[in-house]
Amino acid sequence: MHIVITGGAGFLGARLARTLLAQGQLSLAGAAPRPISRITLVDRAAPPADLAADARIAAVTGDLNDQLAAPHAAFWREADAIFHLAAAVSGECEADFDLGMRSNFAATHALLERVRALGTKPVLVFASSLAVFGDSPEQPLPEVIVDQTLPTPQTSYGIQKFIGEQLVADFTRKGFVRGRSVRLMTVSVRPGKPNGAASGFFSGMVREPLAGLPAACPVPDSTPVAIASPARTIEGIVRAAEATDAEWGPRTALNLPSLATTVGDMAAALERVAGKAATALLDRAPDAAIMRIVKTWPGRFETARAKALGLTADPSFEAVIRDYVRENPDAVKLPGVA
Ligand SMILES: NC(=O)c1ccc[n+]([C@@H]2O[C@H](COP(=O)([O-])OP(=O)(O)OC[C@H]3O[C@@H](n4cnc5c(N)ncnc54)[C@H](O)[C@@H]3O)[C@@H](O)[C@H]2O)c1
Repeated sequence: MHIVITGGAGFLGARLARTLLAQGQLSLAGAAPRPISRITLVDRAAPPADLAADARIAAVTGDLNDQLAAPHAAFWREADAIFHLAAAVSGECEADFDLGMRSNFAATHALLERVRALGTKPVLVFASSLAVFGDSPEQPLPEVIVDQTLPTPQTSYGIQKFIGEQLVADFTRKGFVRGRSVRLMTVSVRPGKPNGAASGFFSGMVREPLAGLPAACPVPDSTPVAIASPARTIEGIVRAAEATDAEWGPRTALNLPSLATTVGDMAAALERVAGKAATALLDRAPDAAIMRIVKTWPGRFETARAKALGLTADPSFEAVIRDYVRENPDAVKLPGVA
């Protein structure tokens, strides 16, 4: 089986590739599992060294739009499954409208057109976002988002993700692709360096103090947040590819499970794991630009459809932090963190 991951050098794309390589096989849309012979990572950035060193990995480095404007490369034709994760992130899209339209809207459309032209009908999993739900005075979000809640995005990123979902749904309805869109929650704790996402501090406020570094926590304690760990998120993305059409159900995007928490509770969990020395490193100066984006996002979901697929939320944010500590021992420098 040949798999393509766009954004495959990014945080989730690389983790997805590692997960697929470790399991060695994949069942696509309910078919019998087949061994994974190759994973092609398409990204502007080069893949991490561990992936580059694996013989089953092929890296195609360059802008996705350029790749899709070029004549057919064989890997598109050979792809049994495409995980479309390449995207400009929320903060970048607010700061640079053209970047978001190019990377998130135009590239998604071009990818679907490429697949349509090939006639190969791969399973295509599209990483959408909880940012398709946006609160506004004219249209307040319900207290709890359910599977049937209508997206009302309030940011360029959210709009672009919602358009992507709709394109995936229509290309699927027309039989050009077997598309499944999953709405990812805010993924925390993200290892490595901060990125341009407005949600970046939800990881930074844990990752940096654990490394003994100061971190911004620029929104009030009461700010609600719908969190999922990297592991739970990848589980949802893989399950989307595996589900039979009947299990998957409607072409509408699927809300992945989330842990409903608040910034204050996250800080308290950090303190339980790493002590007051960790929370003392949090800089609580407010950032109006980040608050403007984050406050439109929902904090509480009921994800019956995901539950029926066997997907569950993380048990607690403390457990999420402990997973991060276990998985990233070299990134934890604060004394006394067990
Ligand atoms: N991490 C989260 O909290 C979160 C939440 C909701 C949705 N998502 C979505 O999940 C996906 C993966 O997110 P991530 O956290 O791994 O982000 P990331 O920034 O770590 O990875 C995205 C990758 O896409 C690549 N990329 C972006 N535009 C490209 C282009 N035009 N051509 C080629 N490569 C391009 C980047 O180089 C990067 O490696 C994205 O679609 C994102 O919108 C993430």
